[in-house]
Amino acid sequence: MVLRRHIIRVICIIGCIGQLYVATFNYMSFNVRYGVQIDFPQSYELPNIDLAIPLAAYLNQTGLCDRFNESFQQFADFFNISIQRLEKSHYMQSAIIAKKIKVKDIEELILNPENDIVTLIIKQSNKVYILRKYCKIDRYFSNLNIYLRISCRNNSKPIILSTESIATDNIVLMSIAHRMNTLYAVRLADINSNMDSRIRSYTVVPSAANNLEVTRLSFKRIYYDALEYPYTTDCQDYDRNHELNNCIRDQMLNLPNQTLYSAAILSFNTYPGHLGFQRVSDEDFNSIYGYCSRLISKIDCHSMNYELRKDYIDGEVQTTLKFIDILPSIDPDIYYRAYPVTEFIIFFISILSNWFGLSIFDQLIYGTSYCKTCSERKIESANTNNRNSSQPIEEATYSIQPTQQLFRHRQLPKL
Ligand SMILES: *[C@@H]1O[C@H](CO)[C@@H](O)[C@H](O)[C@H]1NC(C)=O
Ligand SMILES: *[C@@H]1O[C@H](CO)[C@@H](O)[C@H](O)[C@H]1NC(C)=O
Ligand SMILES: *[C@@H]1O[C@H](CO)[C@@H](O)[C@H](O)[C@H]1NC(C)=O
Ligand SMILES: *[C@@H]1O[C@H](CO)[C@@H](O)[C@H](O)[C@H]1NC(C)=O
Ligand SMILES: *[C@@H]1O[C@H](CO)[C@@H](O)[C@H](O)[C@H]1NC(C)=O
Ligand SMILES: *[C@@H]1O[C@H](CO)[C@@H](O)[C@H](O)[C@H]1NC(C)=O
Repeated sequence: MVLRRHIIRVICIIGCIGQLYVATFNYMSFNVRYGVQIDFPQSYELPNIDLAIPLAAYLNQTGLCDRFNESFQQFADFFNISIQRLEKSHYMQSAIIAKKIKVKDIEELILNPENDIVTLIIKQSNKVYILRKYCKIDRYFSNLNIYLRISCRNNSKPIILSTESIATDNIVLMSIAHRMNTLYAVRLADINSNMDSRIRSYTVVPSAANNLEVTRLSFKRIYYDALEYPYTTDCQDYDRNHELNNCIRDQMLNLPNQTLYSAAILSFNTYPGHLGFQRVSDEDFNSIYGYCSRLISKIDCHSMNYELRKDYIDGEVQTTLKFIDILPSIDPDIYYRAYPVTEFIIFFISILSNWFGLSIFDQLIYGTSYCKTCSERKIESANTNNRNSSQPIEEATYSIQPTQQLFRHRQLPKL
């Protein structure tokens, strides 16, 4: 009798372990379930503000026309437009010289774009001018743009903006006054993020030259968290776009004809002046791109993006000052998160219950019915104890709360 029971037990244990092994193996090779969570925040971290400004807007025009007279002349002849007309479009000028310009042209002709950022005001219980005290402006370049990153810290901590301390209906979290008299593009970014050269990450703001303009930006924050190996998403904790660009940039500098990568964001005073952005052959570029994308193949585990909604007003009054107002989100923050562990535990327990007749359902029923009786008793005694006091008695509820999470399968791009 005892022996038979032992044998059955051993068979059950072996079977259970076998099935758990297979189930775990299968689980790891399936796509992970994703949950969507929403949240209306009461306070915001002051994001980094990145500006991409056409290169020609902040290069000395006299010097630029001297050096690139021929290119401008050719373009003007081809399209039958006047040189004067061309000089008004910094965007077109930048595009015309993009393949010819050298690092030394940019570094010699650059005018100080950061001087055109005049003030940065955060609106809390009262206005606070933070630019000089808390913020720094870094500049970078590519062959098309000057990039400015405005990042503010309060003793290395992010500056927190609370919406509760502002009483008005039309809340402006922050306002930037500037004198940039050109078309530009803007992006809000997480304070720990890298610069981004992709055009689609930016929102373009047009310019009515010399008019007062107000650009209102309201944002929505989207968070995304995936899971690392062994899940099939197999992501890595890094900024893929940044690493990929750096890899291509370094590989292109290793070619016999050293060339700067036009999609990279470059620091000033880092590269030799004679370097330019001329095209490399398709063959060379494809082999470099292939090499780098194989090396850096995993997707990012974590990302946070500000999705901007733009609203632009031309005041039709001549002034030198223009404004960018940043408004809090109308939409809630959205979190895409992977929830693998809880699901797996349920799976695990169901297998155990199959083999050993352990029912998690029974346990739950037992648990809730116990809770109900004990809570009823508690409420009763509370009622008798507090019959005199005017305090309302909080009644406990045991219904399952509707959660904010809508589960759905999310197929991740395979690279
Ligand atoms: C632009 O360059 C010219 C000479 O090339 C110089 O005379 C002029 O002062 C420069 N302008 C600015 C704003 O630096
Ligand atoms: C530019 O080149 C044209 C001829 O191609 C010439 O007539 C003109 O004077 C030049 N302008 C400057 C600023 O050098
Ligand atoms: C170029 O434009 C001018 C007017 O701006 C016009 O008179 C002239 O005919 C045009 N030339 C050609 C070749 O289209
Ligand atoms: C910076 O931090 C100090 C102390 O934490 C705080 O009193 C001050 O209000 C902060 N300044 C801003 C602009 O948030
Ligand atoms: C390097 O550049 C020179 C001129 O810019 C060109 O003649 C030569 O073919 C280039 N070599 C390679 C390997 O691309
Ligand atoms: C209710 O209040 C009365 C007098 O205010 C007091 O005598 C009695 O003990 C109280 N009962 C309870 C249950 O606290």
